[in-house]
Parts: sequence; structure tokens; C-alpha cells
Amino acid sequence: MLSRVVPAPVRRRLRSLQARAQRPGLVLGDWRRYRQAAAAEMVPRNPGNARALMAFFSHSLQKGLSRQGDEFRPGFGVAALTALSSAMQAWLRLGGGQDDTFFVEAASTVNAYLARHQALGVATGDKEGLFPPDLLATIRSIDSDLGGVKTVAAPPSSEPRDFAQLAAGRVSIRHFGPGQVDRDRLTQAVDIARHTPSVCNRQPVRVHAYQDAALIETALRLQGGLTGFASPPTLLAVTADLTAFVAATERNEPYVDGGLFAMSLLYALEHLGLAACPLNAMFNHHQDKALRQLLDIPKTECFVMFIAVGPRPDPVVVPKSARQPVDGVLRIHGA
Ligand SMILES: Cc1cc2nc3c(=O)[nH]c(=O)nc-3n(C[C@H](O)[C@H](O)[C@H](O)COP(=O)(O)O)c2cc1C
Repeated sequence: MLSRVVPAPVRRRLRSLQARAQRPGLVLGDWRRYRQAAAAEMVPRNPGNARALMAFFSHSLQKGLSRQGDEFRPGFGVAALTALSSAMQAWLRLGGGQDDTFFVEAASTVNAYLARHQALGVATGDKEGLFPPDLLATIRSIDSDLGGVKTVAAPPSSEPRDFAQLAAGRVSIRHFGPGQVDRDRLTQAVDIARHTPSVCNRQPVRVHAYQDAALIETALRLQGGLTGFASPPTLLAVTADLTAFVAATERNEPYVDGGLFAMSLLYALEHLGLAACPLNAMFNHHQDKALRQLLDIPKTECFVMFIAVGPRPDPVVVPKSARQPVDGVLRIHGA
């Protein structure tokens, strides 16, 4: 009806004005949904938050436990243990069960932490005191090896793995062997990953590679996710070119396309026998600005994530990073 009386250019203008008017609402809607569900600055308000915090601090302890030899700092992690104790208490207070994967992983990680220290003859009484006696008794009663660290051998190149084996075998590796990553292998990895799908095949992802040790050191100091580990010989910054997007409803797509590409790249690096660890790009304005300048990233690109890459040590110790079972993930509707 409207199309008969209103000329096409006016209709287009009206549609454009309507889309523009929706923009603040879209962004505010995102923020509102996020704010209602996510923890308010690490204070859990629902069981999901308590789980996330248990994973966060279990992971931090597992990373500390994965440090070997002179890199291991006995007695590390007082803040993480304190926060893990609070998160486990919150989980139980909010009605969570003691058989939940995240709770069991947390308990098992605390047990692994205590066992590693006791094996080194380091007293753990002060660390045990960070947990209320009934929680400590529960932790001790959980006989599980879900938490802590594991030693992973490099897969023999003579036995090619199928995709399920590759996916199950890939782990984040934060220690790197000596030497540098051959540029041809980096090119090969991106060549594999460039087959990743993207919205309407717009291919917004860019991969910036750095091999200058001083620059990588500075970048990782700003990024903050590999503190306590030696820097990798190669650092990749996965970004998305925002000029590839054409409407406000696409505002999250750079991170979707970027995330998909980054996963392909991680599998490609694993396939090529390299060690890799994804690193977050959850930056505040200062970090974003400083890293953009340091790494020469155009203003038109957003950071998706970094990836530390290097020769793979064999074997290597890594966090166990337990996964929840399939029924924690898959919801089959209408069955
Ligand atoms: C987007 C993203 C950001 C990450 N950031 C960091 C980081 O800053 N530091 C770190 O040590 N690990 C980081 N990781 C690695 C995760 O800790 C790791 O993937 C997770 O514990 C699962 O372990 P896995 O990769 O060994 O299977 C990140 C992973 C992803 C996917």
C-alpha cells in the first residue's frame, strides 16, 4: 500500500532512518542482556556465574601448576585459591551439586595443587585454611583426576589423525621449543584456515604475524594473558576488517567470523605440528590503543584474539582443562 503512494527514493530514505533509529536500542539491548546474566565484576549472582568463576580460578591454578622446573613458583596462587574457595561456596549456596563437572574439576585442581606442594615438601596448612573446614572435607572426599595438569606427547607425524582425533588432541600449549616458526609454515596454516566460512563470503579476517622478540614481549605485557611464561617466538593477531560490514545488525559478526577463522587456524597449526595458545583480546581503551599502535593495526580493524605460536616441545605439560559432557551442551528441542 505504502509502496504505491510513496516514491521509492523516499521509501529507501525512511528505511534508512528507521535502521539508524534502531542502532542505540540494539546496542543497549545487547548490554542489558549481558548485564542481567553475567557476574557483576566477579561477584556471582546465579549458578552460571559461580561455575564460570570456578572455571576461571581452576584454570589459573592449572596454568601455575603447568610451569615446570625453575619456572614453578611454590606457594603461588593465594588470590586464586581464595577466590576459588568463594566461588565453590557460592556454587553450593546457589543450589549447585557436588557432582557437577566444574565443581569436581575445581576440587580436583585444589587436590592436585596440595599434592604437588606436599611432594615438594612445602607446607600447605595456610592454603588449606583458605577453605572452610566442611568445604575442605568435601574437596578431599572427591576422588577425581579431572583437575590439575597433564603431560602431552607430540603426535607421531607418521600416523595421520582423523578430524575427531585432531580436535580431541589439540591443546593450548604455553611453552615453546627453541627456534623460530618457518614463514612457509605460517603461510601454510593461513592457507588452510582461509577456507573458513564467513557471512556472505565477505572474508573480513586478517592475520598479522610478528616475530620480533622485543615487540612480542611488550605486546604480551599489555595483553596480560601469558604472565609468568616465556614469550613465544611468533605472535599472531587475528583481526576483522570492519569495512566488510554494512548494517548495525551485523555489529557482532566481526567476532563471529573472526572466531571461526581463529579456530580453523588453531587446528591448522596443530595439524602442522606447531604449539599454539589462543590469547584473549578483552582490552580496555588503553590496551586497545597501545596495542594497535605497537602492532600497526589499522583503526578499521577490531582485535578478535592473539595466538602464541612456536615449535612444539615434546613432551609438554598443560592444564587439563576438563570439558563438560555432551548433555551440558546439547539441547535437543521438541524430542
Ligand atoms: C578466545 C580465547 C582467549 C584465550 N585467552 C587466553 C589467555 O589470555 N591466556 C591463556 O593462557 N590462555 C587463553 N586461552 C586458552 C584457554 O585457556 C584454553 O583454550 C582453555 O582452557 C581450553 O584448553 P585447551 O585449549 O587446552 O583445550 C584463550 C582461549 C580462547 C578461546
